[in-house]
Amino acid sequence: MPTKTPEEIQAQREAWLARKAARAAGQEAPPQPAAPASEAEPVVEVSAPPEPVVEAPAATPEPVAAPAPSTPPAAPPAGGKRSPEEIRAQREAFLAAKAAKAAGVAAPAPKPAEAAPAPAPAATPTAVEKPAPAPKPAAAATPKPAPAKAAPAEPEKIDPTVTRREFLNYAWLASIALLTVQGIGMGLWFAFPNFKEGQFGGNFPIGDAAGALPEVNSGPKAYVDGKFWLVNLDTEVDGQSRKGIMAIYKVCTHLGCLYEWVPMTNRFECPCHGSKFQLSGDYIAGPARRSLDRFVIQAVAPDGSIKETDAEGNPLEINGDETLIIDTGRRILGAPVLVPA
Ligand code: FES
Repeated sequence: MPTKTPEEIQAQREAWLARKAARAAGQEAPPQPAAPASEAEPVVEVSAPPEPVVEAPAATPEPVAAPAPSTPPAAPPAGGKRSPEEIRAQREAFLAAKAAKAAGVAAPAPKPAEAAPAPAPAATPTAVEKPAPAPKPAAAATPKPAPAKAAPAEPEKIDPTVTRREFLNYAWLASIALLTVQGIGMGLWFAFPNFKEGQFGGNFPIGDAAGALPEVNSGPKAYVDGKFWLVNLDTEVDGQSRKGIMAIYKVCTHLGCLYEWVPMTNRFECPCHGSKFQLSGDYIAGPARRSLDRFVIQAVAPDGSIKETDAEGNPLEINGDETLIIDTGRRILGAPVLVPA
């Protein structure tokens, strides 16, 4: 029995590995290389040496395409050693085939590319009539919802409790309001006095002139309630005529004392400071700075006509048949005293 060279054994081993890888990939095993004619002997199976186990990474088991064993490895050059590159290539092929087998993925045979069907020519729209737009359905007359009525405002709740500060504010405002009302009332009362008839400050009727008047140029007639003297004059003072009746205020024009009529001297004399006045009220002497004041006399004639004292307070001439009314509300100040230079 002829012995095989190491190269032949190596070649048979590689061929065996290739067939094994092909069977694992489900492909047709490559034909066994023909042995040389001179060495047509049964193939001796040589057990493959144990290969190092290379486990594929479990995390990313990517299918590895097995090398196509369609072409058997080239036979080593007769009578020569294989190069390291060839050995490395065979080893890599072996490892790839083994990894594919372990992954159970067969290397798919490349299929011939099918001719892609020609795309159908796009239908060019010609003059296509646009369909008439469908009539819109008439909007249903949906009644509009009535606006919601505003809810009636709830009455504001008032805190019945009053704080001390609020109470003091209210009391202060009430006091101010009360004082204001009182001031206004007093002003109106003084501005528009309302005296009853026969009271000082209002109209003081003394009746018919014939019964009320004193004698001409006699002593005055006192009216205590009316605070005046009624005199009847027919004389001259400083060259001026004093004829008529006068109502003279009973208060001294100096400091307000009540002067008296002195018949002995036929004049008015003030007991306070000695001021003296004539029967007509004109100033004679004393500290007073003006003549006596007088009131307005209204003489109502039988025909209803009324005469009254002028603005200067001169004596009012009457006929004697009038009715006299003394208006104590209208006081005319006496003439001022002329001081010699
Ligand atoms: Fe009459 Fe003084 S008050 S003189």
